[in-house]
Amino acid sequence: MEEDKEDKIKEDKKEGSCAAAPDPPLSRKQKKSKRRCLRRKIERGAKEGGIKAVTKKRCSEAAQNPTKLPFSMKADMKKNATTSGWLGKKPSGPSDTEPRQYTLRELLDPNGGQAMSYVPWNGSTLHYVLDNEDRVCMVLAGRPRDPKWDELTKDAYSRLSLLRSQLEYDQKETNNRRGTFPTIAHGLSFGGGQKKPKHLSHGSDQKKEDLLEDVMNTKSIQRLCKFASSVYEACCKGCHDYIAETVETIRATDGSLRRPYDSKVGVYPCRSFNLGPHTVSFPHKDVGNLAQSWCSVTALGEYDHHLGGHLVLWDFKTVIQFPAGSTILLPSALFLHSNTSIQPGETRYSIIQYAAGGLFRWVENGCMTDKELGDKAEDNEDLEMTREALRKSRWEKAVDMYTKVKKLASLT
Ligand SMILES: [Fe+2]
Repeated sequence: MEEDKEDKIKEDKKEGSCAAAPDPPLSRKQKKSKRRCLRRKIERGAKEGGIKAVTKKRCSEAAQNPTKLPFSMKADMKKNATTSGWLGKKPSGPSDTEPRQYTLRELLDPNGGQAMSYVPWNGSTLHYVLDNEDRVCMVLAGRPRDPKWDELTKDAYSRLSLLRSQLEYDQKETNNRRGTFPTIAHGLSFGGGQKKPKHLSHGSDQKKEDLLEDVMNTKSIQRLCKFASSVYEACCKGCHDYIAETVETIRATDGSLRRPYDSKVGVYPCRSFNLGPHTVSFPHKDVGNLAQSWCSVTALGEYDHHLGGHLVLWDFKTVIQFPAGSTILLPSALFLHSNTSIQPGETRYSIIQYAAGGLFRWVENGCMTDKELGDKAEDNEDLEMTREALRKSRWEKAVDMYTKVKKLASLT
């Protein structure tokens, strides 16, 4: 048995896996340093909401040079959310964008193309996108100032390449409405007639479950996930904390929903791994996500970001350069978005993190479904009136969770 375990570790090391490699023992100096870091983290958490000084400085600097778009989250985006305010609204009627890949050239072309504007983002600098009332509605998060970040993202890319080669996919996973690439979701979610939140199931395929758990235990994957979550916390604390509190309430109702790596990956309860080799999405909205919440997109792979892989914001006719190893946070349930196609022979993978709107509805209902609460409210006029009042005010409350850029400018 023990020999089997050792063989597995050797095998995984050979294949480039970080998951099974045991951590080397720490020296006395390293232990001391670890304790000091932990103490500082606790002190920061108590005083400043857990945001590092270096992050606050970056947030404050970014506030000097944001991009402002001519729309209001409160007034204009309300129509993109459902009337109950929990989810994004499915497009009704024919769309003016075909479900296909678009090249950079045709999006920028003023003669017969889309004539979109171009943002040459470098993938490193933190950059805010504001609505016309100065709400930070989207963030080009970039990457940490860590000289080893490229190495780390390459490791994450190798890990996902390995996962791609280990999995077998069903039709739904390889040809989804977002594009023709395999995607696999993992984490806590709610939908499709569920009575309570559950971890996404992969049927009886235990191998798939085990492989995904291995990926989640990989340090490079955890750091990528955590970085996106940290930027979320710094730039949109209202939404971040709402997710954190809701997910904690759900896990408190059922301890089996906790995972050992939860605190290492940050606030998002669920993620999808898009396994390329050409992850290029069609124009779409992720309508199952909490309407106002940002999803995080981390691009990985080997592609020329000057020629392809850009993030396209169709509502604003804008194309944003998106280098591999970088992260962008956007309200993906509300904004129509896609990627530009990459060149033949190139590869692009991505990690998407998000929170399903159904989780929040279930908790606000007092840990029950809409149907269960509706049955309860049938003979209870007060309860029905409270539900209606909450429904009417939900969108305004949702938008108030965003941070105004002035607040981020004053972070010190
Ligand atoms: Fe998306």
